[in-house]
Amino acid sequence: MNAVDVIEKKRDGHELTEAEIRFFIEGFTRGDIPDYQASAWAMAVLLRGMTERETFLLTQAMVESGEQIDLSDVVDYAVDKHSTGGVGDKTTLVVEPIVAAQGLRVGKMSGRGLSFTGGTLDKMESIAGFHSDLTTGEFIRQLREVGLVLSGQTAEMAPADGKLYSLRDVTGTVPSLPLIAASVMSKKLASGAQAIVLDVKVGLGAFMQSVKEAERLARLMVRIGEQADRRMVALLSDMNQPLGRGVGNALEVREAIDTLRGEGPEDFKEHSVEIAAHLLVVADRAESVEDGRAQAHEAIGRGTAFEKFLLLVEAQGGDRAMVENPSLLPRANVVQTVHATRSGYVAQVDAREVGLTVVELGGGRLKKGDPIDHAVGVEVLRNVGDPIEAGEPLFIVHARTPADFDAAAARVHAAHRIEEEPVPTLPLFHATILGESSEAGSMADA
Ligand code: URA
Repeated sequence: MNAVDVIEKKRDGHELTEAEIRFFIEGFTRGDIPDYQASAWAMAVLLRGMTERETFLLTQAMVESGEQIDLSDVVDYAVDKHSTGGVGDKTTLVVEPIVAAQGLRVGKMSGRGLSFTGGTLDKMESIAGFHSDLTTGEFIRQLREVGLVLSGQTAEMAPADGKLYSLRDVTGTVPSLPLIAASVMSKKLASGAQAIVLDVKVGLGAFMQSVKEAERLARLMVRIGEQADRRMVALLSDMNQPLGRGVGNALEVREAIDTLRGEGPEDFKEHSVEIAAHLLVVADRAESVEDGRAQAHEAIGRGTAFEKFLLLVEAQGGDRAMVENPSLLPRANVVQTVHATRSGYVAQVDAREVGLTVVELGGGRLKKGDPIDHAVGVEVLRNVGDPIEAGEPLFIVHARTPADFDAAAARVHAAHRIEEEPVPTLPLFHATILGESSEAGSMADA
């Protein structure tokens, strides 16, 4: 067998065998198959697709390319959530402390920002001293002692995904359904949680643009998880406009802290509560989603979720004072408002454009390894459907310099649209996809 044969077979639209998939992934992980062949193969997969069986086999080969944590001997039950990537998506920072406060163990491996989407680790590093480079031993110890861990993916875990993802990012091969499913699920399966809630984003600021496409991806990932004996739920959530108000690392941490204190924006709070509720149900801590929501509100109301967040920050070396007093978080030099130039109803706030504006301000990376500025970002003051008068504030831009502000202001201005006639608000969720083990294996309208 050789790599060219496998690439040509996929290029010509044939189904690969288990042996061929293993040969390719093992060879690529070892470095025997060079990046240019792996890129050609990824493009062939993007164009020709994969059967469900091939996608399962690819996920398995990627899981087995590295270390796998078995948490069953460590804690009773560990849960995890994963978002496919969005703009202003600081949900993890709120959901994980909520469910940890309700007694679930949460061991999460998070990523960094990619393209226009932000990354949880970058956000958390707005808190001085916070580090996420935990060894497997430290991850397990913290999971036992604190019940909540937020670490980076170690080089040993699903290394095939780490290598392939960086190639996909620069070869136009990210938005492939089987490649995304195998990438997400290989990390989730390798890191050992027994129950997983997936937040599959759909819309302008997501890799999946249509609900139909997002639903296919969600169903595929749910089935992959179930084949590996995980309890699975997937939610399809709207990502046409940014989630919540803040987009940018420190701004998002501040909003997460506000939300944990019961003061954040309603839409973001509702989104977080919904995901926490499903985690509580899938882990048998809540009798129903309604009960899960009530528990989540209680953890916020009593301050126990905020306490868990403080413990997490302290356990990973972060400055507690910044969490207790978020005005100590990094702040940009130039903070100025962008105003509406006409009256009417907000019809669009393009999440992708807002995400790209934040990257351009320095809050994200143009290439791997670039340093980022935690202080910069954009606050979105109006959502789709809101009425607005000309001259009212629409965005607040946090920039390093006046010139950066001008460029960002022009870009966010172009990213929004105001119409004369009333515009319906956007839903937070489009659908819930329950795994067989969760209930009827059906899709429920959100
Ligand atoms: N997130 C991942 O982890 N992998 C992908 O391929 C896309 C989003």
